[in-house]
Amino acid sequence: MPEHILVAVAWPYVNDEPHLGHLAGNCLPADIFARYHRLVGDHVLMVSGSDMHGTPTALRALQENVPPSTIAQRYHEIHYDAYTRMGISYDLYTTTATENHREVAQDIFHTLLRNGHLYERTIKMPWCEREERFLTDRFVEGECPHCGFPDARGDQCDNCNRTLDPIELKRIRCKRDGSTPQFRDTTHYFLKLTNFQKQLEDWIGPQEHWRPTVHNLSLGLLREGLIDRAFTRDIEYGVPVPVPGYEQKRIYVWFEALSGYLSASKEWSRSSGDPDAWKKWWHDRSARSVYFLGKDNITFHTILWPAMLMGYAGKPELNLPWDVPACEWLTIDRKKQSKSLKNAVWLRDYLTRYDPDPLRYYLAAVMPETSDSDFTWGGFHSRNNDELVGTLGNFVHRVLSLIARHFDGRVPEPAALDDADRAALAACDTALKDAAAGLSGRRFRDGLRALMELAQAGNRYVDGKAPWQTIKQDRIRTATTLWVGLNMVATLRTVSYPYIPFSSEKMHALLAEPGTVLETGWRRVEPEVGRKMPAPLALFKKLEPTIVDEEVSRMSGEGIPANS
Ligand code: MF3
Ligand code: ZN
Repeated sequence: MPEHILVAVAWPYVNDEPHLGHLAGNCLPADIFARYHRLVGDHVLMVSGSDMHGTPTALRALQENVPPSTIAQRYHEIHYDAYTRMGISYDLYTTTATENHREVAQDIFHTLLRNGHLYERTIKMPWCEREERFLTDRFVEGECPHCGFPDARGDQCDNCNRTLDPIELKRIRCKRDGSTPQFRDTTHYFLKLTNFQKQLEDWIGPQEHWRPTVHNLSLGLLREGLIDRAFTRDIEYGVPVPVPGYEQKRIYVWFEALSGYLSASKEWSRSSGDPDAWKKWWHDRSARSVYFLGKDNITFHTILWPAMLMGYAGKPELNLPWDVPACEWLTIDRKKQSKSLKNAVWLRDYLTRYDPDPLRYYLAAVMPETSDSDFTWGGFHSRNNDELVGTLGNFVHRVLSLIARHFDGRVPEPAALDDADRAALAACDTALKDAAAGLSGRRFRDGLRALMELAQAGNRYVDGKAPWQTIKQDRIRTATTLWVGLNMVATLRTVSYPYIPFSSEKMHALLAEPGTVLETGWRRVEPEVGRKMPAPLALFKKLEPTIVDEEVSRMSGEGIPANS
């Protein structure tokens, strides 16, 4: 039975070019998962969009002296462009600046208020005398009251991953000029998270299929006891609070952006021609929703968003996350990616020199699934040359070029199979099974290993059979070998689709199979004898060893794309 699977991807702030972190932590694992489930025939809805109202955007707008919407729209288009060219197959990538999103976020606000989960409280917030504004969220930094990290931000600590309110920061300072802000009274709506403590404990406790890091962090926060959080902010930019007297305030960007998963699903439905379609993913109890994000976003998705969904208490209720497979950090040369340290890798800049698949492949191979991992240009170079070119590309090319040379590019007819042939076909079925287990289990590195093992098995099989020799005396034997090899190529085409879709499409074209990869589905397809295939082309490009030094020096200064 095909399933309904919502693939929900964290909404990036749009204040700069997208970099490696955006791809490695959010989009790529989500895309791999979505492509796999589409291939097995499930109904996937993959949504995300740009988080237009965050303080990072507002800060950049102040620097450039333009309205925040100008910055947000500029970088929204840039993110959309980069993700599309990296092959991220969103069903909808929208923004939080739409009318639809405003309606959905305000409806959630109203409903939580009506259901008694929001209340007003007057609190002290940092205030900048010079600019006459409240300093919300990332406008302030200071020391984390929980772990002592010196550079925690007004909304969260990147060291211990706790959510924060500015007043909790010690040694608070203005991000813009380093001054110590004063505090002023202001009234806000608070979400009564304490109302959900018990319900969240009952729900999170048994989530044994969550990654241990995600499960433990969430359980730890519940053990400490939840704290009510301000649901509104003193800012001019964002979704208005739909209550008289709150004209100068906005819904807190985090709660507002989280509502985006629902608003984007509704927007997609409307444009698909069936405005109720979203209900299959949000109401049907059998549907599963899987949220992809970096570890700094975990609490927002395992505590805050579920509390909002519980408090919304729609009839029927909205589905809670089924899994939140958050990624750990990806460092670059062992340093946290940062623009100030100039060790960021910008996606669009990367794309001016390389194809998308080698990066997708390398990032999937070192994906920080259960612990932090490291990106190096040396690693990128050797994975490309040794694995993509040397193993996968080489195997596909050997089989296809022998068929082109000796069988006029037509699928040869096999005769009786021997043990080695049968073992090679069995390796195809094993790869499909192992990769499926990794992909559906959100263990993407394991799935990729299954792919590479099949390519290695292919090379070994062809080495053992030596068809370039047997062709001299035994044409029938050679035909059988190459037909078996072609089965392996066809399976590699299928298993590689979630990871390296552009190369998978190329393999599909070289096989001259009818329909698309997606239509072929997740199975071993026996090549049809006699079918004419086009002249083989190389799948991957070998990279010069000099690119490693070039890229490293580019990272230490000159790598910013011309139009950023
Ligand atoms: N913009 C936030 C960030 O980049 C993430 C928002 S994800 C959502 O950290 F859940 F709010 F949608
Ligand atoms: Zn902390």
